[in-house]
Amino acid sequence: MELRKFEIKHMPSLVDRLVGLWSPPVDDMEFRRTYVEAIVRQNATSNDMQFMICDNGELCAVAFACRKGEHNSSDQWWKATHDNLSNSDYRKMLEVSRSYITTMDEKTYSYMTEEDVKLSLFVSTKSGWGKKILDQAKDFYREKGFKNMLLWTDCDCNVDWYRNHGYVLVEEDTYEGFSRPGEDYKTYVFKMKL
Ligand SMILES: CC(C)(COP(=O)(O)OP(=O)(O)OC[C@H]1O[C@@H](n2cnc3c(N)ncnc32)[C@H](O)[C@@H]1OP(=O)(O)O)[C@@H](O)C(=O)NCCC(=O)NCCS
Repeated sequence: MELRKFEIKHMPSLVDRLVGLWSPPVDDMEFRRTYVEAIVRQNATSNDMQFMICDNGELCAVAFACRKGEHNSSDQWWKATHDNLSNSDYRKMLEVSRSYITTMDEKTYSYMTEEDVKLSLFVSTKSGWGKKILDQAKDFYREKGFKNMLLWTDCDCNVDWYRNHGYVLVEEDTYEGFSRPGEDYKTYVFKMKL
């Protein structure tokens, strides 16, 4: 199966997969989907490393990546979506999420050189396709001359997948903004030599 450039028509499938994992526990499913779409878009750039794999037209996995400091392409969409929300709590939730992503991106960039690539979104919508897409994506990064792949993740993600696939933990931390009394919100930066 070949890597292809991500097509926006697959956004609903991606959101279906992630909405239960990455959205706040409010009743409003439309807002939850918007919240997750915002996360996906903030991890996308306009470069040539926004990959997906499909099988018979169905999305199986995505792997987005960027260079150190590369800016995401979501600003216009984010602002319009944010400003259109009439509920101020929802607007605040989007702001907090955006600030968290920016903080974690900056942290990850601080461990990178210009020769490294950051995996910014890694999701399989069908079990077994995560490894397949990442193996091909890593070949692509190597061919482009990148030396290491870095990524950040957190306790709402499949952190153990990285631990079990040879990734080196560079930093483990707690994000106070999402922590509750007695419940630390853990964040991680991992590195893999290409
Ligand atoms: C992380 C992710 C992309 C991995 O993709 P995947 O398709 O599940 O993983 P693989 O391609 O390795 O194939 C699935 C196999 O890995 C195994 N696996 C899944 N998570 C695992 C883990 N944490 N540790 C070890 N094995 C794991 C599955 O059990 C399955 O094994 P099987 O084929 O024997 O049944 C996927 O779990 C996912 O999309 N998670 C939600 C989003 C996320 O957390 N993304 C990453 C951090 S931001």
